[in-house]
Amino acid sequence: MATPRTIAIDGPAGAGKSTIGALVAERLGYLFLDTGAMYRAVALAALRRGLDPDDGEGLGVLAREVRIAIGPPTVRDGRAYTVLLDGDDVTWAIRSAEVDLVVSQVARIPAVRDAMVAQQRTLAGRGRVVMVGRDIGTVVLPGADRKIFLTASAAERARRRGEELAARGEVRPRQELLREILRRDRLDSERVMSPLRPAQDAIVVQTDGSTVGQALEQVLQVVRKTEAEQRT
Ligand code: DC
Repeated sequence: MATPRTIAIDGPAGAGKSTIGALVAERLGYLFLDTGAMYRAVALAALRRGLDPDDGEGLGVLAREVRIAIGPPTVRDGRAYTVLLDGDDVTWAIRSAEVDLVVSQVARIPAVRDAMVAQQRTLAGRGRVVMVGRDIGTVVLPGADRKIFLTASAAERARRRGEELAARGEVRPRQELLREILRRDRLDSERVMSPLRPAQDAIVVQTDGSTVGQALEQVLQVVRKTEAEQRT
């Protein structure tokens, strides 16, 4: 086998998984699926319906009911993909501070995870996919052909988040962003079900001080290197 069919990219918030994952998918001509967007869409649906983020039962029902579709960009406004929630374009709404605040709580509910994982596996079944998230290599696709754990220090991730927001005209104190990143790291790593951690067979890619282009090269090297290894 020369080309990997399934590429799993996991890592903490702000490590650049979505940016890098989308570029890798584009290079290879693969489908790109950012699973974080799915958890964000469920969190947004919960906010819109006034559901408590700790109401596990209600959230489970909601996660099974809502229709989430992620596809190529439908508007040229800098988006990497379009997210539809019951047909409504929520691509930017799922990036709001309100969603940031509750999404980790929503994502730790087992019934929510079960509903999302089932959809993710169905999509991966079509093959040739780059899937990014927290538990892709460990839980969703344990048999993925390539597993990458993309990471960077919390300070670097807070700096990048600050730049990303500034580019959209939103200025936020660096310390506040760092606190949010650390809080989400804690919630994502300490939850009981599918906590954030590298799969045993994942290759860790550290991107502190790397530009997007450099990080992309680092990841592509992993994809190619393991290809070469498999050929020998
Ligand atoms: O990658 P992100 O920041 O958009 O992810 C949003 C939230 O969803 C984050 O708190 C972790 C959670 N998540 C998860 O639990 N499992 C995934 N596969 C992807 C994201």
